[in-house]
Amino acid sequence: MSDPECRRRSSNWKQLPGPPFGGPLPSPPVANPVSTTKKILVAVAWPYASGSRHLGHLAGAYLPPDIFARYHRALGNDVLMVSGSDVHGTPITVRADEEGKAPEEIVDRYHREFVQNWEDLGIRYDLYTTTGTDTHRQVTQDFFMKLLDNGYLYRQMTEQFFDDEAGRFLPDRYVEGTCPYCGFVHARGDQCDNCGRTLDPTDLIDPKSKLTGNTPVLRQTEHYYWKLSAFQEPLLEWLRTRQGWRPHVLNFAIGMVEDGLHDRAFTRDLEWGIPLPVDDLGPGKTIYVWWEALMGYFSAPQEWARLAGEPDAWKAWWEDPDAESYYFIGKDNIPFHAVYWPALLMGYGGLNLPTDVPSNQFVTFGGEQASASRGIGRSIGWYTERFEPDALRYAVSINFPETSDTEITVEELVKRVNEELVATWGNLVNRVVAMTGRYFDSVVPAAVDADERDAALIASVDATLDEVGDLIGAIKLRAGLQRAMAGAQTVNAYLNEREPWKTAADDTERTGTTLKVALDAIAGIAVALYPYLPFTTTRVLRALGVELGEHGPWWRRPEIAGGTKLSDLGPLYAKMEPIDEEE
Ligand code: MF3
Ligand code: ZN
Repeated sequence: MSDPECRRRSSNWKQLPGPPFGGPLPSPPVANPVSTTKKILVAVAWPYASGSRHLGHLAGAYLPPDIFARYHRALGNDVLMVSGSDVHGTPITVRADEEGKAPEEIVDRYHREFVQNWEDLGIRYDLYTTTGTDTHRQVTQDFFMKLLDNGYLYRQMTEQFFDDEAGRFLPDRYVEGTCPYCGFVHARGDQCDNCGRTLDPTDLIDPKSKLTGNTPVLRQTEHYYWKLSAFQEPLLEWLRTRQGWRPHVLNFAIGMVEDGLHDRAFTRDLEWGIPLPVDDLGPGKTIYVWWEALMGYFSAPQEWARLAGEPDAWKAWWEDPDAESYYFIGKDNIPFHAVYWPALLMGYGGLNLPTDVPSNQFVTFGGEQASASRGIGRSIGWYTERFEPDALRYAVSINFPETSDTEITVEELVKRVNEELVATWGNLVNRVVAMTGRYFDSVVPAAVDADERDAALIASVDATLDEVGDLIGAIKLRAGLQRAMAGAQTVNAYLNEREPWKTAADDTERTGTTLKVALDAIAGIAVALYPYLPFTTTRVLRALGVELGEHGPWWRRPEIAGGTKLSDLGPLYAKMEPIDEEE
C-alpha cells in the first residue's frame, strides 16, 4: 500500500477486527488486494433528453457500465464513470416542435427523469452532467479549433434540403425516407435504424419533411467539412490490431471503414446547438450534435475535475497511456464510437483511443427492436415502479443481449426474480441468518470443528470471486452473474449436506462450525454479487459486520469475526406476483 492513491481511497476502510477462526481454512488478505491502481474511464452513452429511455437502453448501455465500474472500484482501481444528457440537435428540436414547447423545457424534463432512473437503480456515476454546460461548450469549441489548426476541417459550399413552406433548412431528423442501402422505409436523415448505417438526408430515397410532409428542395449553404477520409488507413490499422473486442463490434467497424470513409459535414443549419468558435459562416450554424456529444467523453472529466477543485485531475485518464477507457453503448452507436470518435481523437492528437467498445446487441419486444421514437418497449420508470431495484438489475443482467438480439418479456423478468434470485440467493441468506438467530442468538459462532469439507467450500468461494472478477473484467457480465449464482448454489449444497437444522439437536460445535463457514461463504458470494446487486449485498455485508467504503467492499472474501452480533436483516427480496402489463 505504498501508492498514495491507494491510501487515499482506503482511508475510511478499517482492518476487520477479530482473529480468523481456527482450523485449516485459508484466510484472505486483509488489505486492498491490488497493489497498483489503474485509471479506468468508464464512458457511458449520453442519452438524448428527448424522450424516456426504455429497457433496451438499460440493458444495452446503462446497467453494464455500472457493474463494470463497481467491480473495478472494489479492486481498488481509480474509476471515473461519466456521462450526461445529450441536449442538442434535431432529436430535441423535432420533439419540441411536435409538442409546441421550447427545447429547454423538453431537455429539462427528460434530464430530471434520467437522473431519477439512475438514482432508483443505483447507477452510480462519478459525474452525470449534460452537454449544456459551459465546460462542454468550451471544450467542444477548443476541439473544433484544434481540428481546424491540424488541417482536418475545411469550408465547402453544399446543397442541403430546405422546406419552402416552413422556410427552414432540414438537417438530420427533419427528413425521413427510404434507406438506400437496405430499403427500410422509416429511415431517418441521420441514420437507418434497420441496418445501422449513418446517413445524410440527401441519401434517402423519397425524402419527406418532418415539418410539413412536403418533398424538400435543395438549397445552397456553406459548411465546415471534416476530412474523415484522411483517417481511413490509420483507422483500419488500429482496428485490425484490436484484441478481445466483441466480434460484432469489430466486424461492423472494419466493414464500415473498408467500404470507404467520406468527408462529413461538421456543422449544421440549426440554432439549437453549440455555435462555431469562428464566425466566417455567418449566423444560424452549430456543430453537428453527434461530433459534439462524443466530445462529452472528453469534457465531462474536465467538468468533474473542475467541480472537484483539481482542474488538471482529468489528465490521468486521458493523457496517461496506461489509463484504460471503456465505452458502453447500444448497437446503433457502434459507428460513432468505434470509427468516428477514434478518428476525432486521432485528429486532435495526444489523447487515449478507446481500450474497448463493448456494445451490446438489441433488446426486442415481440420480435421488434425497442425504439423510443416509435414507442416500442416501456420506459425504465415503468419497470422501476414494479420491481425492486436489485430484482430488476438481476433479471436484466442475466438477460444482457451481449452476443445476440434478446427478447426480454415481463414474465421472463418475474420468473428470474422468483426462481433464481429469491430461491437461490435470497433463501440462502435468510435461512443461514435465521438459524444463526435461532441456535446462537445471532452471535457468529466459532468454527472449532472445521475439516476439509469446510475448507473446500471456502476455497470454492474464493475461486468464485476470482472467476467472477475475471468475467466482469472481460465484460462477460451475463456469465459473471451466472458464475456468482453457481457459487451461491454451492453453498446451498453444502448446507444440505451438513444439515445444521439436524445437528443443532445434539452437536453445537458442528452446528456452529457449519453456520460460521456458511456465513463466511455468504460474505464472499455477496462480494461477487455486489456489482450486480449493490443495494441488497450491501445490506447483507453490513449485517455481517463488514465495513464498506466509497469503493463498496474490497474484491476479496471478508472475514466474519466469531462473536460478531448479526444485525437485523429482514427479508432480502419479495417473491413477485405476475404483473398485469395492461395497467
Ligand atoms: N444521444 C445518443 C443516443 O441517445 C448517444 C450519444 S453517445 C455520445 O443514441 F457519444 F454522444 F456521447
Ligand atoms: Zn438501412
